[in-house]
Amino acid sequence: MPISGDQYRQLGRASAGAVSVVATYESGHDAIVGLTISSYVTLSYEPPLVMYAIQRHTASYSPMVTCRSFGISLLAAGQADIARHFARPRRERGTQMPFDTGTHVRVPLIPEALAQVECVTNEVFMSGDHAIVVGLVEAARAREGEPLLYFGRQYGKFAPLQER
Ligand SMILES: Cc1cc2nc3c(=O)[nH]c(=O)nc-3n(C[C@H](O)[C@H](O)[C@H](O)COP(=O)(O)O)c2cc1C
Repeated sequence: MPISGDQYRQLGRASAGAVSVVATYESGHDAIVGLTISSYVTLSYEPPLVMYAIQRHTASYSPMVTCRSFGISLLAAGQADIARHFARPRRERGTQMPFDTGTHVRVPLIPEALAQVECVTNEVFMSGDHAIVVGLVEAARAREGEPLLYFGRQYGKFAPLQER
């Protein structure tokens, strides 16, 4: 018998992850839909594919799984406020926050992010209470800097071990 969802959620606290924002322009509008994720994964190099998982009960679920394109911004260590904003349920839509727009695909991207990835939706798989969204990378850029990480319900920075 599988363990309960609550038990599994507790275990999730043991996993550390990099923090990203995935976002799209709502179809037919200029409104931006986006949410904070830690499920971003580099899925394939040839062809270049990314994936992330989105919970079914989020408000962004429907626009994110049906959109034709989306942007993923890997946040920099100084961008915890942006992560908090996009993780807040029932936050105000139409935020005044500035966005960059993709150079190859019209997708919203977070300015000054550590990396910006412009994707066209390739496949969507339903799995349990999440959907797995796969995107084909049409353009991407990265800059020097430190990533924003999340562990034990806290945001933090990467600290290399002092190897002897
Ligand atoms: C660090 C962090 C990582 C998260 N990762 C994910 C994720 O990978 N997938 C997901 O669906 N929600 C994730 N969430 C939760 C969403 O950000 C949160 O449910 C948000 O309120 C969704 O917004 P919405 O309901 O407006 O769509 C994460 C939250 C945090 C703080």
